[in-house]
Amino acid sequence: MRIDILTAVPSLLDSPFAESIMKRAQDKGYLEVHVHNLHDYSKNKYRQIDDYQFGGGAGMVMMIEPIDKCISELKAQRHYDQVIYMTPDGKQWTQGMANEYSMYENIIILCGHYKGVDERVRTLHITSEISIGDYVISGGELAAAIVADSIVRLIPGVLGDEQSALSDSHQDGLLSHPIYTRPLDYKGFKVPDVLISGDHRAIERWREEQAVSRTAERRPDMLSND
Ligand code: ADE
Repeated sequence: MRIDILTAVPSLLDSPFAESIMKRAQDKGYLEVHVHNLHDYSKNKYRQIDDYQFGGGAGMVMMIEPIDKCISELKAQRHYDQVIYMTPDGKQWTQGMANEYSMYENIIILCGHYKGVDERVRTLHITSEISIGDYVISGGELAAAIVADSIVRLIPGVLGDEQSALSDSHQDGLLSHPIYTRPLDYKGFKVPDVLISGDHRAIERWREEQAVSRTAERRPDMLSND
């Protein structure tokens, strides 16, 4: 998969892609990430990419020209499956969407900044507007890193068998069951007996029950049918 990220602050994206699974995905050839600095696409000698909004009001707006220039250049080189805009007005990102997007070959992610983008960017280029939750962060970069990470870990081969994404919370519509490692007894807090019983069916049953009861307690909305 190739991910092109358009941003006003490229350095915010340095470390999320330079470590751990995202780094390994690139080293193993499953992922290519290209970060584009929107200031490089400004026609203005001050490399300006924002301006006042028509009609007045607080907050600067990201101008269409630098964004259109960058996206148009990319689209001239290859087909993109989605052009995503990170915005708190977008559709709430879910594990189901991460699964779907992990099948794509090429995606563009535009990170919003300031008050947001000129509406015509959305009309002209954006195919998917995504929010990571009902709160506002200072720019789309951290949100883009979250969305990219949740997609990349699902690309077949990126995670080894021992880290299978299939057992992640949310992957089967449930939260994860509790997990333990050594020591067996820590200051009187013990590992449940079933986990050291060697009875694999009993362990499986216990894990399922725990996942369901945990989900019912913490996220009853995930168990309702609507
Ligand atoms: N930019 C600012 N807040 C955001 C959010 N909640 N989701 C996506 N992008 C954002």
